[in-house]
Amino acid sequence: MVEVYYHDNKDTVDNFTEPHDSGRPVSLEDLSKIGVFYKHITTKEELDALANERHYKNRDEVNLNLAAFNNDMNAYNAKMQQFYKEHYHEDEEIRYIVEGEGYFDVRNTGDEWIRAKLVPNDLLILPAGIYHRFTLTDALKSVRAVRLFKDQPKWEAINRDSGRESEARLSYAKTVAV
Ligand code: LAC
Ligand code: NI
Repeated sequence: MVEVYYHDNKDTVDNFTEPHDSGRPVSLEDLSKIGVFYKHITTKEELDALANERHYKNRDEVNLNLAAFNNDMNAYNAKMQQFYKEHYHEDEEIRYIVEGEGYFDVRNTGDEWIRAKLVPNDLLILPAGIYHRFTLTDALKSVRAVRLFKDQPKWEAINRDSGRESEARLSYAKTVAV
């Protein structure tokens, strides 16, 4: 079952796969206030129902671990650095964990990092426009996840340091504005 907490912000280039648990938990309700939706799903029927409801017609499965890069440490590390760079997308990011585990970090309205540790049967929906990053856990360094999407997945990562704030980012910021 998912664990959600404030990140301790003590991450470096070497240790970001560690838990970084500040000891301050965050509720699923608080997550929903920034448009992040969590669901525990145990059957294919439930997953299909959610996909139907939200008009996600397509899906695929991704595997992330060193073996997926044919044990090419440089390629694996490059991908890990890329996923951990703060970014947003112009579409929702939906992940359903099948095997392994991973950390999704999302920014709250106070620009603090909230970390969700996802394990099998956890599904997370990040709204379009939210700043986030992802990493594997130090313990397992492996995840297999289903990605759900509509027609053409808009998975371009728009990095925060690019300064590019597209329509999706601006309208997300508006929906969570206090
Ligand atoms: C992605 C996740 C890793 O963009 O944030 O696929
Ligand atoms: Ni992303």
